[in-house]
Amino acid sequence: MCGIIAYLGDKNSYPILLEGLRRLEYRGYDSAGIALLNGELSVYKKKGKVQELADLTENKGLFATIGMGHTRWATHGKPDDINAHPHFSGNNRLAIIHNGIIENYATLKEALTRLGHQFESETDTEVLIHLIEEFQNRDKLPLEEAVRKALNKVVGAYAIVVIDKNDPNKLVGARKSSPLVIGLGDKDLFIASDATPIIQYTNKVVYLNDEEIAVLTRDKGLEISTISNDELQEPVIHELDMSMDQLEKGGYEHFMLKEIYQQSQTISDCMRGRLNAIEGWVRLGGLEEHINRINKANRIIIAACGTSWHSALIGEYLIEDLARIPVEVEYASEFRYRNPILTDKDVVLVISQSGETADTLAAAELAKEKGALVYGIVNVVGSSIARMTHAGSYIHCGPEIGVASTKAFTGQVTLLTLMSLVLGQRNGSLSNSYYHQLIAELASIPDKVEKVLASNEKIKYLAGEIKNTNNTLYLGRGYNFPVALEGALKLKEISYIHAEGYPAAEMKHGPIALIDENMPVIVIATNVSAYEKIVSNIMEVKARKGIVIAIVTEGDVEIKRIADHCIEIPSTIDPLTPLLSVIPLQLLSYHVAVMRQCDVDQPRNLAKSVTVE
Ligand code: M6R
Repeated sequence: MCGIIAYLGDKNSYPILLEGLRRLEYRGYDSAGIALLNGELSVYKKKGKVQELADLTENKGLFATIGMGHTRWATHGKPDDINAHPHFSGNNRLAIIHNGIIENYATLKEALTRLGHQFESETDTEVLIHLIEEFQNRDKLPLEEAVRKALNKVVGAYAIVVIDKNDPNKLVGARKSSPLVIGLGDKDLFIASDATPIIQYTNKVVYLNDEEIAVLTRDKGLEISTISNDELQEPVIHELDMSMDQLEKGGYEHFMLKEIYQQSQTISDCMRGRLNAIEGWVRLGGLEEHINRINKANRIIIAACGTSWHSALIGEYLIEDLARIPVEVEYASEFRYRNPILTDKDVVLVISQSGETADTLAAAELAKEKGALVYGIVNVVGSSIARMTHAGSYIHCGPEIGVASTKAFTGQVTLLTLMSLVLGQRNGSLSNSYYHQLIAELASIPDKVEKVLASNEKIKYLAGEIKNTNNTLYLGRGYNFPVALEGALKLKEISYIHAEGYPAAEMKHGPIALIDENMPVIVIATNVSAYEKIVSNIMEVKARKGIVIAIVTEGDVEIKRIADHCIEIPSTIDPLTPLLSVIPLQLLSYHVAVMRQCDVDQPRNLAKSVTVE
């Protein structure tokens, strides 16, 4: 949710922190701040984007070889200069940056107030640094011990970094249910929320585990212990396979547009080594060891949030259709709190781009506790969900920086298609001929994605037609119903136009009352199986003077006669349709948002990964 970057080394940390914050800004952009320690412990912070902080601090000749920075997505306390991080302790000796929520902060604040502590901000974070200060002073503890003691009193989720004015050679980081990565350079040490700000300096990282404390010092380097005791743990060093150009816009105006255009490549990357159309096979390494258990499962439950939940719905259609295993889809946030019935005969798939979404992570933990096999479908390598599941598959889309998820969606759907093919072939639900037809067609999808992208200018024109609307309806049937939900979510989140996705046949049970000559209705009408039915749904909209924009299959004649506008996509078989039909909807939202001068990559109130509840 918030972004954390800290540096200890021989270079000036100021530009490193600022650049790091720019890379982390997709995680939160309500306010930003830095703390630099060079004799004095100085904090600079500002409401708004990282650029505001850059404007505040430029030309000040800032220099320090130890420092930390934070970009915030507000939870406790409105976004303003005072609530921005870092926060000082009462004696201004310590400073902290924090991602997460301290749930018992009110009780702690009351106790600290009785001891004479005074607070400037409304944040839970400031309470934590005062608590650390209290233990450091009262018990004369080194910084890491004071941090350990304080964290033992805290209920909640956190990733923190603490700096001590009296100890310019040390950074202390700790995590519980919020990610932290340590970067190990030749002479530099980093702590960050994810690897994006570190990768330009080193590809060697250590993922801090839950409830661990990292102490970074100039002489000893990295030492890891736990929040419960000071016994040292052996750090596991990973080498990251990420390049800088994955983190740049590469000539596109926005990350979202770049990521939409990458999809032909990212779908190929997801299939690489897993599908061979010439030899006619599909394999998924992560699945192999568990395939019998999955094929014999009572049911598969898929838990996810947001766009990943929409792919989960497509997963339900795919797995039931191709592998004939019963599937239920759950919002992770509901699943984790509703005491679900789960046994070791169930399999829980968790889908997450970031691998850090708090509710999805908690759903996976719950499923594990109850004995279910937990399988992760994740993009970010080394993320919390990827590391805690029994098995899983990466979608291999590379970093997704735009807050609106695009290439991760098609990556997840591709992976779910591969998984359904493997399961269905192995348990005998798929006929040999249909299995091979699906493989051949899936292999052709990247080329077909390119063809859809070639309609960009037409889609841009249509964006101009709907850019001033206040409401839109998205309709789809079968495999295109979750695509309608996804199209509506994309429009809402980046253009702030109200949009609803509905199964087309449900329209007459209520939403039809909304339709008049001002209501654009986007119908995903490529279905081979329910074509006549979707034609009837379009007629129902037209009879009420709604404006119909239809996504149709190349060569369609009937819908073209009745819809106001059509966007063609290449023909494919029903189960693979979402991989193509979602792309015009992504582009449509993108162009509408640009025309409305919205902040496409960092839409208001949102953040890329939701690591708090
Ligand atoms: O990282 P995750 O896939 O777990 O994230 C889930 C949602 O927060 C995410 O899909 C969100 O809905 C996006 N902003 C959608 O574009």
